[in-house]
Amino acid sequence: MIKYDIKDMALASDGKRRIEWADARMPVLQAIRQRFAREKPLGGYTIGGCLHVTTETANLMRTLKAGGATVALCASNPLSTQDDVAASLVKNYGIAVFAINGEDKTTYYRHIHQVLDSKPQLTMDDGADLVSTLHADRRELLPQIMAGTEETTTGVIRLRAMAKDGALAFPIIAVNDSKTKHFFDNRYGTGQSTIDGIIRATNHLFAGSTVVVAGYGWCGRGFAVRSAGMGAHVIVTEVDPVKGIEAAMDGFRVMPMAKAVPLGDLFVTLTGDINVIRPEHFAKMKDGAIVCNSGHFNVELDLDGLKKISKAVRMVRPHVAEYTLRSGRRVHILAEGRLINLAAAEGHPAVVMDMSFANQALGLEYLVKLKKPLSKDVHMIPAKIDDKIAEMKLASMGIRIDRLTPEQKKYLASWQMGT
Ligand SMILES: NC(=O)c1ccc[n+]([C@@H]2O[C@H](COP(=O)([O-])OP(=O)(O)OC[C@H]3O[C@@H](n4cnc5c(N)ncnc54)[C@H](O)[C@@H]3O)[C@@H](O)[C@H]2O)c1
Repeated sequence: MIKYDIKDMALASDGKRRIEWADARMPVLQAIRQRFAREKPLGGYTIGGCLHVTTETANLMRTLKAGGATVALCASNPLSTQDDVAASLVKNYGIAVFAINGEDKTTYYRHIHQVLDSKPQLTMDDGADLVSTLHADRRELLPQIMAGTEETTTGVIRLRAMAKDGALAFPIIAVNDSKTKHFFDNRYGTGQSTIDGIIRATNHLFAGSTVVVAGYGWCGRGFAVRSAGMGAHVIVTEVDPVKGIEAAMDGFRVMPMAKAVPLGDLFVTLTGDINVIRPEHFAKMKDGAIVCNSGHFNVELDLDGLKKISKAVRMVRPHVAEYTLRSGRRVHILAEGRLINLAAAEGHPAVVMDMSFANQALGLEYLVKLKKPLSKDVHMIPAKIDDKIAEMKLASMGIRIDRLTPEQKKYLASWQMGT
């Protein structure tokens, strides 16, 4: 009998249909699952996962189980859990899930502890909350942990900081840093699903509106380009001079947030940084401005500061909180400042998560097959695995590309030929 804590088991059949819909769009993960079912590379291992509980994650969990692993899963964000998926994972796929959409902070951490109670040897994180909790509160479990994986930019940054301080007790594979992850998931996935979340929450018309994008990294670029494609006037704010030039040469206006605030109709943070939009910014926004975050944590917006300059707060639509400032202006905050694409929409499309989660599955297989353990640091997935995923994805899309001729191989490796 598996343990679990989910909202409602009666939702399982809806969840199963949606998991199957996503699976049909994840051919690379499907192929890995079929091989895992034959070879059982993860046989005997227990994996503790802390990921957004979505249909795509469900297919990753199925793949790990097919590979022989015992899996326990909790959410990596209190608002991203799809309760029907959680129910189906328990009922139809026999996977231990501890996640309820809208859970409070205490429940969120209790669920992380319940996953750790399964005594995993391998961890799988999206934002490093599982690994942080392990190191802070469950140190007795550290000796049995072999290694882990990390899905997102913010998690990788946190884990690199731990490794730098000598605090990381086991090696981590930075799935985010694979080319087949951040080139596609962060750019096209976040780019599209952030727009999806904003539209579902507000029915906002992008055409003709001024959209301020904070952060022109992988996610910010994806979102800015797609917003412009829908007819928005895009303004970019940055702290990195190179990214500032890139945004300007991509055709966007670039300026400090303080200058952008009176101009924007919609503000989206995608930085991984803290307090990017602060009370002095909220105070100067247009009446009715919409503000949301699609970076990993809800710290990008200073909502405590916003409360202090507000005289009233009310919910005006699901996911839309209207703050009335003391000046009388109104600012609309979406999804409590949490990842808008996962809170108000479904997260990234399965087609991109296919590659991200192929990295997760093959990353774990790589870790368990290693003859010599990796150092207690943050490591990349070997380029060979990254390239293999790209080849599998391209083949699944029915696209063929050229191969280097022997002469070209020689030329590209030579400093004497053809000058
Ligand atoms: N919504 C999602 O589903 C999703 C998916 C992938 C990643 N993420 C998260 O999105 C965030 C960004 O990820 P990324 O891969 O684009 O990272 P990135 O490092 O490529 O880009 C972040 C950018 O933000 C800029 N920045 C930092 N502080 C800033 C500030 N105060 N003002 C303006 N710009 C600032 C940096 O200079 C950098 O260019 C991370 O938190 C990541 O974990 C979210």
